[in-house]
Amino acid sequence: MELSSKVIGSIGRFWRTNVMRFGVYEKVWPVETTPSRIVPEHIERPDYVAKTQKLIIPKKPEIKDVNQLRGMRRSCKLAANILAQVENLVKPGVTTDDIDELVHNLSIEAGAYPSPLHYKGFPKSVCTSVNNVAVHGIPDLRPLENGDIINVDITVFFKGFHGDCSKTFLVGDVDDKGLQLVGVTEESLEIAIKACGPDVPFYEIGAHISRHAKRNRLTVLPAFIGHGIGQYFHGPPEIYHFYDRYTPHRYPGLMQPGMTFTIEPVLSHGGELTLVLEDGWTAITEDGSRAAQAEHTILVTENGAEILTK
Ligand code: MF3
Ligand code: CO
Ligand code: CO
Repeated sequence: MELSSKVIGSIGRFWRTNVMRFGVYEKVWPVETTPSRIVPEHIERPDYVAKTQKLIIPKKPEIKDVNQLRGMRRSCKLAANILAQVENLVKPGVTTDDIDELVHNLSIEAGAYPSPLHYKGFPKSVCTSVNNVAVHGIPDLRPLENGDIINVDITVFFKGFHGDCSKTFLVGDVDDKGLQLVGVTEESLEIAIKACGPDVPFYEIGAHISRHAKRNRLTVLPAFIGHGIGQYFHGPPEIYHFYDRYTPHRYPGLMQPGMTFTIEPVLSHGGELTLVLEDGWTAITEDGSRAAQAEHTILVTENGAEILTK
């Protein structure tokens, strides 16, 4: 999920060439894609697609009951399962649209709706963000190249509940800077999850993540935040991955057992600024540096937190 960002058109050829400052990689820009995929009638749609129902999003962080937790476990397990299968497909020559096709078909085969499809106008069934694309990349016909890093962000709506997770994959031989970026991003998510538990302030998540980024000379991209999740895709609480910057300076409140939310830090080598392209979705780093993201949906328990998208 993201905070507001400046929308831009094209940036010119020079900017797209490979540079050494942030490592060795190709800067990507969206190319042509295929039409949105179709979901069979018998698959239940989330409220934002059906549009007949009105959106139900709680006003404050929700504490799930036993039934809701059963629903969350099911949808999160499915999302994690599909992400694991995508990992086997990721290699040079495969397009991000091929990934979209796989995620779409696996969701439907399981009886689930791919949550991104037609969410606030998003045209595809999964987000695929390559190299300098920070988040919300729209799958297209660009083949993956040796040396790319690609985040695949999967959300499914299954039996009334959303499950959301993402991972940044390595395509072939990635340079050392890229490996470090992806590794530290994953570690920062792990550290944040370990810090969660009853009566822990939500802002502790951002404190841990930004500390880990800083000591590894990486930057947390502040525009992208985690979110409560359940029968709704995005709801309270907002999960900041940075600490004491911008507004609100510190998200108020304490974690309680039964809450489910995502943690999804995005880290880069460069500055904090990101831009959204004219497609309304693709978020790129302003300086062209690569960004990596990792995401889990977690459940706060009596003695810590459980990863539901494992
Ligand atoms: N899965 C993303 C998240 O982690 C949201 C994607 S919204 C979409 O919050 F429309 F781009 F799919
Ligand atoms: Co996600
Ligand atoms: Co999310």
